[in-house]
Amino acid sequence: MDLREAIKKRRSVRKFKGTPISPQEIEEIIDAGIAAPSGKNLQPWHFTVLTGKKKNALVQVLVKTANKLKEEGLNTGSCLGTARAMGEAPVLILVYNTRGNPQKPPQGTARYRWSVDIQSIGAAIQNMLLEATARGIGSLWICDVFFADQEITNWLGRKDELVAAVALGYPDETPQKVPRKKRGKVTAWYGED
Ligand SMILES: Cc1cc2nc3c(=O)[nH]c(=O)nc-3n(C[C@H](O)[C@H](O)[C@H](O)COP(=O)(O)O)c2cc1C
Repeated sequence: MDLREAIKKRRSVRKFKGTPISPQEIEEIIDAGIAAPSGKNLQPWHFTVLTGKKKNALVQVLVKTANKLKEEGLNTGSCLGTARAMGEAPVLILVYNTRGNPQKPPQGTARYRWSVDIQSIGAAIQNMLLEATARGIGSLWICDVFFADQEITNWLGRKDELVAAVALGYPDETPQKVPRKKRGKVTAWYGED
């Protein structure tokens, strides 16, 4: 599949078959992430791959925390639906910003450096989604893990910043194209008259 086709065909997949993905394919998807550009080539990413019981235990950390927050009256939105998709996917990759410290949110000009790192990690994630699509593997970019970021990070024994998770698996649905804003609405051109 060429790049244009992968860009066109990628969808957020939320229903997965149980069929495992080979470790080699997972590694090659991560390699696509690592190939992304990064500010000052700092490559601020780290990928934690979870499968099987370990992945299911992680999903339970999220579900438990989301249920607790719900009981406390917080709107957890799509979190439990996302957790269901995470439970179905055979592979879950947690993506960390190794330069981020959740105990010390960036202040002042450090916010710019933080934004650069997050953009770099976003580029890596998008590369991974496109690589997965090109292999016929479905993917879901997940930020609902934020509902339990500290719980997940403690559970993993990490100290850096959780940015997102990526669920991977062979699709068990054919998601429709989700509408996009028209180019004219999100573009401005300036040039010589
Ligand atoms: C930064 C980011 C975070 C997202 N977080 C979630 C999530 O937690 N749960 C979920 O089901 N989808 C999540 N999505 C998927 C979006 O809902 C989806 O990309 C959007 O609706 C467009 O659909 P498409 O990906 O099929 O084109 C996320 C996407 C991005 C880029």
